[in-house]
Amino acid sequence: MNKIIDGKKVSLELKEKLKEKIEKLDEKLTLVDISVGFDEATKVYVRQKEKMAKSIGYNFLNLHFDEIDETNLIKEIEKLNKDPKITGIIVQLPLPSYLNKDKIINTINPKKDVDGLTNINMLKLVKGETCLKPCTPKGVITLLNYYNIDVVNKNVVIVGRSNLVGLPLFHLLLKKNATITLCHSKTSNLSYYTKHADILIVSVGKKDLITKDMIKKGVIIIDVGINRVDGKLYGDVSFECLEKAKLMTPVPGGVGPMTVISLMENVYETKKNEL
Ligand SMILES: NC(=O)c1ccc[n+]([C@@H]2O[C@H](COP(=O)([O-])OP(=O)(O)OC[C@H]3O[C@@H](n4cnc5c(N)ncnc54)[C@H](OP(=O)(O)O)[C@@H]3O)[C@@H](O)[C@H]2O)c1
Repeated sequence: MNKIIDGKKVSLELKEKLKEKIEKLDEKLTLVDISVGFDEATKVYVRQKEKMAKSIGYNFLNLHFDEIDETNLIKEIEKLNKDPKITGIIVQLPLPSYLNKDKIINTINPKKDVDGLTNINMLKLVKGETCLKPCTPKGVITLLNYYNIDVVNKNVVIVGRSNLVGLPLFHLLLKKNATITLCHSKTSNLSYYTKHADILIVSVGKKDLITKDMIKKGVIIIDVGINRVDGKLYGDVSFECLEKAKLMTPVPGGVGPMTVISLMENVYETKKNEL
């Protein structure tokens, strides 16, 4: 039996569905990606987003600054907020440390916040209201739904409590009536929790954090981690865990493509009136 949760395949199917919807629109949607500085990983992510956006039928504008001060960056975002031709705005993270990340993210008009990271969208998510959801958690939920993985009465363990992944996932899964344990760096005896997981979701950024002895047989594993070692990509979960798992996402080809397609879906969703 194939135990791989194939995020790449699912994302391609979703892409075709989204393209059909976009073709029916009478306007071309525009996604703006703002990046500051010289982070190498950022350049790769921006290129991936650009390629996907253009192939889906969006305009893509990469607004890059080698350096920019906070006041001027905020002015740039405010201009984009007011521009009716701009559908979605993302600010590429990490930002250089001299910029106040929260202040900058929260300058984005929540209705154009296609990364779902502004305080307004976060609060709506916590309250279970309609909002633009952060792309990786949204992509994880889409994968679970696609594979008909019911979370009710399951012991769900999330490792990592970042605002980008772990924390919003906690709320999205709670809304789906899962019972959840949220672990982090101060959790002592992590394996006690991971061994009891029916569904284990890991977003930490440490290769091989989770090993075969830390999981139970039949667990479903969603590995969000991306760790580049000697030019190769690894998740946070050792691949030997596949032997014991019922289902597992690979890295690459699992959650990564789901994050990108979720962003593209969010751009389309900005057209919904109830946001
Ligand atoms: N596939 C994708 O599309 C995608 C998207 C986003 C992120 N990622 C990847 O996912 C990984 C995590 O990203 P992130 O933004 O969620 O991370 P982050 O902001 O760095 O947060 C890491 C989390 O892991 C926890 N942690 C650190 N060491 C731990 C340990 N030994 N045991 C248990 N928990 C520990 C931290 O706990 P504290 O809160 O206590 O510090 C924190 O909550 C990275 O590799 C990133 O590249 C992938």
